[in-house]
Amino acid sequence: MPPRQMPLPGQIGRGPAPKIVAKRRSRGAGGRSAKPLENVDFWKNGRSGRIRTCDPCVPNAVLYRAEPHSDKKAAYSVGFDAPQAAGMRNFVPVKTGLETLILPAGAAGAEAAARILAAGGLVAFPTETVYGLGADAANATAIAHLYAAKGRPAFNPLIAHVADLAAARRIGRFDARALRLAEAFWPGPLTLVVPKTDDCPVAELATAGLDTVAIRIPAHPVAEAILRAFGGAVVAPSANISGHVSPTLAAHVESDLAGRIDLIVDGGPVTVGVESTIVGCFDVPMLLRPGGLSRERIEAVLGAPLARPPAEAESDDSQPLAPGMLASHYAPRASVRLNARDVAAGEALLAFGPDRLPGLEAAAAVMNLSPAADLDEAATNLFGYLRALDAKSPRAIAVMAVPEEGLGEAINDRLRRAAVAR
Ligand code: TXA
Ligand code: MG
Repeated sequence: MPPRQMPLPGQIGRGPAPKIVAKRRSRGAGGRSAKPLENVDFWKNGRSGRIRTCDPCVPNAVLYRAEPHSDKKAAYSVGFDAPQAAGMRNFVPVKTGLETLILPAGAAGAEAAARILAAGGLVAFPTETVYGLGADAANATAIAHLYAAKGRPAFNPLIAHVADLAAARRIGRFDARALRLAEAFWPGPLTLVVPKTDDCPVAELATAGLDTVAIRIPAHPVAEAILRAFGGAVVAPSANISGHVSPTLAAHVESDLAGRIDLIVDGGPVTVGVESTIVGCFDVPMLLRPGGLSRERIEAVLGAPLARPPAEAESDDSQPLAPGMLASHYAPRASVRLNARDVAAGEALLAFGPDRLPGLEAAAAVMNLSPAADLDEAATNLFGYLRALDAKSPRAIAVMAVPEEGLGEAINDRLRRAAVAR
């Protein structure tokens, strides 16, 4: 494809008409995502602390900055530098007002996605876990735009997505254990954090200056088609405003990011529904984030238990020493009340299993993650139901207890973070 045909980011829909049939949305079409973040320079001021954004999607989102020299980094056998060291020297204002193109999945969608990625643009696409927001992993400018579009702290590194193991091994060094996990579970909802190769093409900004890189091969035909058409690694966080509930439908992406990104490829609902499980392939393999692949299945392949990150990694008051473990995350606007045994008037209920709680009649809305108490079904429904209940503007969202086994570990992790007081 000749480069001159590549639409430049921000010019989609303004240049010659693309041959693909597209639904166009202009800035703010989702009704609420176009307001820019407060013009903060939290990573320039050299102090740790928190700032609040004025983004309407994240009323009380807390952004953090990292301490340049955290003694807690030893816990992860990885270096953790200040964002400045990772190349983010200046604040990158969020780009709003883009025409966000929405295309159905298919050959034309994959080709458009690849062209836009190669031109430094931002493309949301489905994976089996959640929708991701992709950028060329080797393009630091594109990655800076990605952080800005999500309102994501630049010290929180990204997962590099690739199409096959050979591509993964160009990026990261796999020891025997990491290789065993990759061979057992890729493509699939598992992310492996491994040391970078010497010539790792992933931009420093995407790895936040760490010596390690998070890698995943998604098991989704649309993601695979885009990765193959593009040819390189694609960094992709979940395609939502940072701190908000992750998207399991293209419509969720549109409501968070319309006007901020170039393209959304609509591949229908995802199947797994929670993000990938992240395993740090350190001296002792560590479960950094429970997710769409259960701990039990990973431990069965390793023949040993996964280590847990130290408890202080969950802290909301200091820098997130374990990247991505911000205590408040996946948050709807309404407050979330866990382990509900009854429903208060005006609350919405996120139910699980066949039991009927007292007070149900007075609930603002009720959705059941899985009436049959199936944890895989519950994971698939989790984020979509949280969004749907939140849209009713209830007093709070009461959530019934979910067992802590299989995908229940990931479901409870997301629910606990959604419930953290903000
Ligand atoms: O299922 C998923 O994993 C989705 C889809 C799109 O692939 N992606 C996703 O990305 O959930 P994100 O950015 O929302 O979460 C990535 C997590 C963050 O918690 C980040 O801190 C962690 O991966 N991470 C990335 N690189 C890391 C590293 N080198 N060491 C430790 N954690 C890392
Ligand atoms: Mg996310």
